[in-house]
Formats: sequence, C-alpha cells, structure tokens
Amino acid sequence: MIFKHFHVGLVANLLGVVSCQNTYGNTAATATATATGATYTNPILNAGGADPWVIRYQDRYYMTYTTNDNITLLRSRTLTDWNTAESKAILVPPPGMNYSTDLWAPELHSISGKWYVIFTADPHFDQPPPETDMYCQFGCPAVNHRMYVLESSGPDPWNSTYAVKAQLNTYDQFAIDGTYFQHSTGLYHIYSCWYRAYDGWPANLCITKMSDPWTVSSNFSQRQILSVPSNPWEKTPYGRPFNDRLSSNEGPQQLTNPKTGQQFVIYSAARSDNRNYCLGQLELVGDDPMNVQDWRKNNDGCVFYQNALEGAYGVGHASFTTSPDGSEDWIVYHGMRDPTNGWGARTIRAQKFTWNQDGTPKFPRPGYGPYAVPSGQ
Ligand SMILES: *[C@@H]1O[C@H](CO)[C@@H](O)[C@H](O)[C@H]1NC(C)=O
Ligand SMILES: *[C@@H]1O[C@H](CO)[C@@H](O)[C@H](O)[C@H]1NC(C)=O
Ligand SMILES: *[C@@H]1O[C@H](CO)[C@@H](O)[C@H](O)[C@H]1NC(C)=O
Ligand SMILES: *[C@@H]1O[C@H](CO)[C@@H](O)[C@H](O)[C@H]1NC(C)=O
Repeated sequence: MIFKHFHVGLVANLLGVVSCQNTYGNTAATATATATGATYTNPILNAGGADPWVIRYQDRYYMTYTTNDNITLLRSRTLTDWNTAESKAILVPPPGMNYSTDLWAPELHSISGKWYVIFTADPHFDQPPPETDMYCQFGCPAVNHRMYVLESSGPDPWNSTYAVKAQLNTYDQFAIDGTYFQHSTGLYHIYSCWYRAYDGWPANLCITKMSDPWTVSSNFSQRQILSVPSNPWEKTPYGRPFNDRLSSNEGPQQLTNPKTGQQFVIYSAARSDNRNYCLGQLELVGDDPMNVQDWRKNNDGCVFYQNALEGAYGVGHASFTTSPDGSEDWIVYHGMRDPTNGWGARTIRAQKFTWNQDGTPKFPRPGYGPYAVPSGQ
C-alpha cells in the first residue's frame, strides 16, 4: 500500500488554535505583513488551547486541537496568527456513543487520497463506577478513553464532510493521543497506553501495525511498548522515587528529517498539568518499527522544555510543519505562562526549529518572541 502525503518537504505537521479575546496575556500576532523583518508573537491564538496539530496543504494551514465537546477544524493562510482563521466543527458527537465526551488531541492526516482524523474520546466523562475504580492502583484516570477515526468524504480537507469510520483496536484498554506513523513497511498506530487494563500509570508509548487507517492488524501479544517514563525527567514530581503515579509518555508525533530521511517520534513526557511537561525523542535506527530494538531513546533529557527566564512552562504536545515556502521547519506546541493553575493555562505557540549535525532536531528555547515570521509568509 502506498501512503501518499501532501507535505511540503516534510511528513507530519501541526499547529495552533482558536480565536477570541485577548485574555491570555499577549497581543494578537501583529505581523500579517509580507515585508522583510515582519515578526509575530506567541501565543498564535488568543484563547486557551492544548494539543495543537497543524498540517500545510496547498496554500493553507489546517489546525485542530482539543475542544473536548467536538472536533473543530481551522484554516489559515498564516501559521502564526489564527485569530481570524476560518473555523468549523467537523464532528459534534451525539450523546450515548462511546466517543461522546472528552474528545482530545485530534489530528488530521492525509493517507491514500483521503483525510483521516484520529482522536481520543470516552463514553461519558470517564467517571468509572466503583467496580471499575476498585481495580486501579492509584485511581483510574481516563480508564475508558479509546481511539477513534473519522474519514473525509473526499480529497479536500475543508469542503469534505467527516464520518466516524471506526474505533481503533487497543484491546479494550486505555488509549490516548494516538497518531499514525507512516513508514516504507506500512502504517502504524502509536499511542499512549498502559501495560494492563487498570494500571492508571505509567502511561507508555505503544505501537501496533495497521492494514489501513482504521484497522489495527496486530493482536495483543504483538503490541509493542516503545517507551516507558523511566527517566527522572519523565516522572512527576521530577525524579519521583516511589511509584509511577503521574509518570507519562504521550502525544507521540512522527518527525522526518527532510535532508537525511531520519525518522523520529517526538513525544511528551512527565505530566501535562504542570511546568515540567516537556518533549522527549525516539529515533528509528533500524528497519522495523515493530522491533523495539530498532528504536533508540534519547535518555539524556528533554529535547524541548520549560524556559523560566521567559515564563514559558509546561511546553509539550507538539506537531510539525513547514514555512509557506517549505524552506523552514516549524514546531507547534502548547505551553503555559502561569505554571501553577493546571490545564486551563495552556495556549498554542509556534517556533522555527533546525537540525543538529547528527540529523536530530534542534529545538529552540520556548518563548514569546517577537520572532521573524515563517519564510514566505
Ligand atoms: C465546539 O466546542 C467548543 C469548545 O467546547 C465550543 O466553544 C464550540 O461552540 C463547539 N462547537 C460546536 C459547533 O458545537
Ligand atoms: C462501547 O464500548 C464498550 C466497552 O468497551 C463495548 O463493549 C461496546 O461494544 C462499545 N459499543 C460500540 C457501539 O462500539
Ligand atoms: C472542494 O475543493 C476542491 C479544491 O480543493 C474543489 O476542486 C472542489 O470543487 C470543491 N468541492 C466543492 C463541493 O466545493
Ligand atoms: C498473534 O498473532 C500471531 C501471528 O499471527 C500468532 O502467532 C499468535 O498466536 C497470536 N496471538 C494471539 C494471542 O492470538
């Protein structure tokens, strides 16, 4: 099977957020200019927002992010200002379905000529009854969350309608933040998983093979665990010595070095509601994504992390795209200015990144700018 993507020189992309009032401590991105020297500031959407995903297609950027009640798609001609972006809900789930509530981390992928939205959801605000809760070690956060897929009606991401295609098989276990990993050997589902049905923590990264964008072909014994939050910086609080409560690997994203072809999975580590949330890195160094030995984890530390000097905390859940002219690589992520009040403080940001000599991504320090607008904007 051939997996065709519409990328401009890069595989997976991601981005920003919604529109609204200026309540998040920043003026709107002021630069819509095309003149040399134009700048923008973070956040790129003046509203709360988390888990941004951006892809560039033809002459526009498309973004989706967690809106909990539905799946909302935005489109914009600029990557760095979403305040006036067009926006529409592509799924408003009816009550009573297994995907009716807590819709998280949607992503829009182009595979074999159609668009697939892969997202997390649960049946009813995930409040486990006592006879489920009693099995969990430290509580049962997200015990009923599973992965779902929408399929577009046609080849255009904006004027298509989207219908629920399937639940992805995660063996009736916790599954969040699922993404597609496209490789010459086929298509894979990489997602945040537990070892067993009632673990609660740690949240690991699992991989399964797919026969198409809505069908997992691996059985449970073939599911592989690619990464567990084993390093001090992947635990919460930092270095937690006693157990794995709050220790997470989640938000995996494929990132391809456009020059060398090196394949990475950039994921989020630690805990999304506080300052230590950061990005970690896996590299596929062999030929088989289902072979755990073919992956190399960067155990040295986060590759993108808080910047106290600029008041940028809890940075993570990234996606990747390019500048309009395709010459620059950009990361879109969420972060907090106030690290003390949890999830509500997250906003969506974007920055340029480059590459190290060894072909690994060289992410910037997170901040607010002003920064130069993307090349070609
Ligand atoms: C989608 O969800 C967001 C956030 O809850 C809400 O503001 C928006 O009105 C919803 N859109 C639709 C069409 O229901
Ligand atoms: C909803 O989820 C439950 C529990 O996993 C499952 O037994 C049931 O078949 C699902 N319903 C549908 C319509 O898929
Ligand atoms: C959808 O958009 C495509 C361009 O991407 C266009 O060719 C097609 O005519 C549009 N279809 C409708 C129904 O608007
Ligand atoms: C999973 O699939 C493999 C390969 O087809 C097979 O050998 C194995 O028995 C299966 N395991 C289970 C539990 O079904």
